[in-house]
Amino acid sequence: MSIEQLAETAQAMVAPGKGIIAIDESNTTIGKRFAAVGIENSEEHRRAYRELLLTVPRLSEHVSGAILYDETLRQSTRAGVPFAKYLADHGIIPGIKVDKGTTALAGFPGELVTEGLDGLRGRLEEYYRLGARFAKWRAVITIGDDIPTGTCIEVNAHALARYAALCQEQGLVPMVEPEVLMDGSHDIETAYEVTEAVLRSLFGALYEQNVLLEGTILKSSMVVSGKDCEEQAGIQEVAESTLMCLKSTVPAILPGVVFLSGGQEDEDATAHLDAMNRLGPNPWALSFSYGRAMQQAALKLWAKDMAGNAKKARDAVYARARANGQAALGQWQGEY
Ligand code: 13P
Repeated sequence: MSIEQLAETAQAMVAPGKGIIAIDESNTTIGKRFAAVGIENSEEHRRAYRELLLTVPRLSEHVSGAILYDETLRQSTRAGVPFAKYLADHGIIPGIKVDKGTTALAGFPGELVTEGLDGLRGRLEEYYRLGARFAKWRAVITIGDDIPTGTCIEVNAHALARYAALCQEQGLVPMVEPEVLMDGSHDIETAYEVTEAVLRSLFGALYEQNVLLEGTILKSSMVVSGKDCEEQAGIQEVAESTLMCLKSTVPAILPGVVFLSGGQEDEDATAHLDAMNRLGPNPWALSFSYGRAMQQAALKLWAKDMAGNAKKARDAVYARARANGQAALGQWQGEY
């Protein structure tokens, strides 16, 4: 695969006013989301729910790509069209989550490392055949007493770089995601320091492992106050801190940075992105790759009456996509 093709895909993922919808929850995670609204976690429910999200009319006006889970990439619409084909036919690039989740980092209590490198080359080859053109790997960094350690940051950055190099070899754009969790009572300054260290380590590892940044997308957390911190930073402070942190760590040749929502309220996720784009021009496109902040309103509606509320649920997804698409241009009409 040529770097030109990878770069073209990466550029298309962050086309102006467009972002990514993340619907790549593992079966365990979607089970938790379903349980919260009283839906049974069956394969057919998972398929039907993903079909609802992926077939939102005019979604591609604001959405360039969708991240799927292994099971979902193998599923089809009720009419029998494989989801990957449906997406590609509707102008949305299919993506796939390829990590196998986190496990406790031995010797480092309270810290996690992401697994999934063994056999990854073969899995990527298959995912490409199934239609995926980008792949996500999520590393998780926890802030707490004396953590994260440098070791945790380094091992996760190393794994991210190994997966990213394999993706590019197989023709998939890596969407590298080092998520610094919002959980905890830390302040925004601490979130800044940790995110800065994580991104520095990540871009060092990508360089060491010959990953071409022109064909890479960063999926980042924003620099926010810990959920339980008494003093919560406002929208403008989050936007300024996140931008400053990215500018000091992320090379300008990267086509784009997309954000995860990480448990933020829907409108906060939109407002933060909008504020960052209003502070531009920035060296890279800044857009969204939200899971919860795109879906949670729709899931609640669908849970109440699956067939009866399908249209309302789809409209809710479209409304979130539209708002976030506008925020990706710094043109959101909402107030903050
Ligand atoms: P959230 O936006 O719900 O954090 O999910 C995005 C994602 O893909 C996390 O890996």
